[in-house]
Amino acid sequence: MNKETIKIGILGMGTVGSGVSQILAQNGKDMEHKLGAALEVKRVAVRDLAKPRGLTLDPSLFTDNIDHVILDPEIDIVVETMGGIESARHAITKALENGKFVVTANKDLMAQHGMELLAIAKLQGKNIFYEASVGGGIPLVRPLKFCLAANRIHKIMGIINGTTNYILTQMSTAEKEFKDALAEAQAKGFAEADPSSDVEGRDASYKLNILASLSFSSRINMEDIYVEGITNVKLRDIRYAQELGYAVKLLAIGEEGEGGLKLRVHPTLIPHAHPLAAVKNEFNAIFLEGDAVGEVMFYGRGAGSLPTGSAVCADIMDAARAIKNQIQNGIVEATFVHKPVVPMEEQLSRFYLRLKAIDEPGVFAKLATAFGEARVSLDKIIQKRSVEQTAEIVLVTHDVAEGNFTHALDSLRAMPSIRSINSILRVVE
Ligand SMILES: NC(=O)c1ccc[n+]([C@@H]2O[C@H](COP(=O)([O-])OP(=O)(O)OC[C@H]3O[C@@H](n4cnc5c(N)ncnc54)[C@H](OP(=O)(O)O)[C@@H]3O)[C@@H](O)[C@H]2O)c1
Repeated sequence: MNKETIKIGILGMGTVGSGVSQILAQNGKDMEHKLGAALEVKRVAVRDLAKPRGLTLDPSLFTDNIDHVILDPEIDIVVETMGGIESARHAITKALENGKFVVTANKDLMAQHGMELLAIAKLQGKNIFYEASVGGGIPLVRPLKFCLAANRIHKIMGIINGTTNYILTQMSTAEKEFKDALAEAQAKGFAEADPSSDVEGRDASYKLNILASLSFSSRINMEDIYVEGITNVKLRDIRYAQELGYAVKLLAIGEEGEGGLKLRVHPTLIPHAHPLAAVKNEFNAIFLEGDAVGEVMFYGRGAGSLPTGSAVCADIMDAARAIKNQIQNGIVEATFVHKPVVPMEEQLSRFYLRLKAIDEPGVFAKLATAFGEARVSLDKIIQKRSVEQTAEIVLVTHDVAEGNFTHALDSLRAMPSIRSINSILRVVE
């Protein structure tokens, strides 16, 4: 029996929830026409019923009890846009067990408990749609799950956190130090009051987990991903990187090679000529390489009320189609196995290093020897300036195993002529 009206319950009416509500109000008729079924928001759960919302939704739909949504027998689709881990995990589990399809924007949850929740969905003959959890309005989950499914994906690399990209762009174009660029991002609404998840790289690592799982058909634990944020990136390094021909970006990188998966998030020097170097401010871009399709790049707004709402609404339509046609819509993730992961110390990287040394004859030779003994070969070694008998030196290495580079650093730290090691960044060509 075809359903004429699909009923939706929404958990959370903040930035994303209100974008969803606005799109449903604006484009609902077109969406219904495309679906061949009506969409009705039946109930909305929030924390604080007294908060002014400025929405067209009927106030009588609101409740502060999640159970009024997830246990309502008339609701077909539960849209989770409240965030957090435990209450969202509990709500989604209960919604699935009560026969609902689920749409979520929650990357933290999907990265850490996605496989377990998808297994419950499969058992229940339902599905969880999570396009909005990564890349905001940029389609990524569906292309990876379906459109590119015939490829072996070798590499996925991208800027998947708009806050840090905004900060790094401001540092490089307006010559600001990190804390000033962060304050500006907060004032303009591009960074949250507590920016730690963004600036420490965790948000990008959750998204990389989701993208890499789909790209490499693997279950991935958060511990499998090396994570380093941008809090130690200095304006000085951005300037030197520019002189060397690079932009500094927080990149999320996933690769599959013979030894297994390589998964990392870190600030990276990337050549100005690379398409990712041109991605500015709050924009995101994801670049991938498939064996059949070649190189593909996705670009757009990775967050925000309407862009994220756009992905959530498309998921609502997919769920509605599944309900209307009485299908589950394919949980491809159920077949994923846990592939081996290459430990970070065995991964190859090029490094940019800025240090201070006593300005005396032979210091370059001593540095070259210390690196040579650790089997690290140098691509560039440049003295930037000299103040009060202290020389500032910038080095760029060739590809080296992280473990060897760490040994070289240990030798450098033990050298009396090295005053300080000020910055270490990775370089991608
Ligand atoms: N913001 C973005 O651009 C963006 C982009 C992609 C993905 N996401 C993800 O989308 C989710 C929501 O983010 P957001 O920015 O929209 O958050 P938000 O603005 O803080 O909104 C959260 C909403 O959930 C409600 N809520 C929180 N805990 C609740 C509970 N226990 N019971 C009932 N309602 C509860 C809040 O109610 P009150 O209004 O009463 O406080 C609020 O309406 C997160 O998982 C986030 O990672 C966000």
